[in-house]
Amino acid sequence: MQLAETIERMRELRREARGDVVLVPTMGALHAGHLSLVRRAREIGQTVVVSVFVNPTQFAPHEDLERYPRPIERDLELCEAAGVDIVFCPSVEQMYPADEAEVLVDVPSVGGDLEGASRPRFFGGVCRVVAKLFGVVVPDVACFGEKDYQQLRVIEAMTVGLCLPIRIEACGLVRDEDGLALSSRNVYLSEEERGRALSLSGALGEASRLIEGGQRDATAVEAAMRGVMEGRGVEVDYAVVREPRKLSVLQVIDIQRGPVVCLVAGRVGAVRLIDNRVVGGGM
Ligand code: PAJ
Repeated sequence: MQLAETIERMRELRREARGDVVLVPTMGALHAGHLSLVRRAREIGQTVVVSVFVNPTQFAPHEDLERYPRPIERDLELCEAAGVDIVFCPSVEQMYPADEAEVLVDVPSVGGDLEGASRPRFFGGVCRVVAKLFGVVVPDVACFGEKDYQQLRVIEAMTVGLCLPIRIEACGLVRDEDGLALSSRNVYLSEEERGRALSLSGALGEASRLIEGGQRDATAVEAAMRGVMEGRGVEVDYAVVREPRKLSVLQVIDIQRGPVVCLVAGRVGAVRLIDNRVVGGGM
C-alpha cells in the first residue's frame, strides 16, 4: 500500500496505476460502513484509492471540526488489511492553499433542503472537496454510501452537471447489530444516548411497516416517524418521505409505482445523527 500526502505524489501514483481506478472518499475514523465501500471498490477496479481528509469547508463554525476523530494509524492499518492500493491523506494546506482562488461549486438543487437547510454550508463544502478529489485522483469510478443519501444524490448531480467522466457507485447502508447506522460520530454517544439513538432506525422501521401495510398518506407516515423519535427524547430535525431520485416532496405514497425513501435527522444530546431507508422494490 502506498501513502500519498501531497497532491503531487498522488498524481505520480495515478500515472503509474493499472486498470480502472476506484476512489472511496472519506473523512477517516473508518468503520465497517467505510470498509464495505472499499470492498465494493476492490470488486470493481484494479486500483483502489481511499482518501482520508477531514474537510474543514463542510463544517459550520459551531460544528465538530476540532473534535472530529482522527485515528490515522488505525485507518491506515484497516486500509492495508482491506487491500487498498493507495491512501491519499493530504493536509489542509495541500487541499486549500492560502493563496488559491476560492472556486466554489454551486450545489445542485437536490441539495437545497433537508441537510442543505439544516447545514447551509455543508453541501457547498462537500461539492468543493469532492470536485478537488476528483481532479487530483481522476478516478474512473467513485463509491459513495447510501448512509448519506442526499449527499449521494448531490454528488451524482454534480458529476453529471459538470460532465465529469466518473461513474458514481452507490453502496448500501451498513448498520450495527442493534440497527444503529454506523457513523464516525457514534463514538460521541454515551450508552444512554445510544439507546435513544436507536429511535432513528426504529422510526424508519415503523414507516416501512406503515407503508407496506398500505398507508399512502405521506404526512401520516412522517408524523409517526416523528412520534417514535420524540418519544425517546430525540430533538427531530426532519422526518420525511420523498421520491428517491430528486428527493421531491410526495403527497401520496404509491409503492406499486416505485419506491420511496424515508429520511430522518435529529439530535441526541449534542450529537446530530441521520438515517434513511428505501421502502418498496425496484431500486
Ligand atoms: P464520511 O462520513 O467519512 O463517509 C465517507 C463515505 O462512507 C460516504 O460515502 C458515506 O456515505 C459512507 N458511509 C459512512 N457510513 C456508512 C454506513 N454506515 N454505511 C454505508 N456507507 C457509509 O461523507 C463523507 O465522509 C464526506 O462528506 C466526504 C464525501 C468524504 C467529503 O468530505
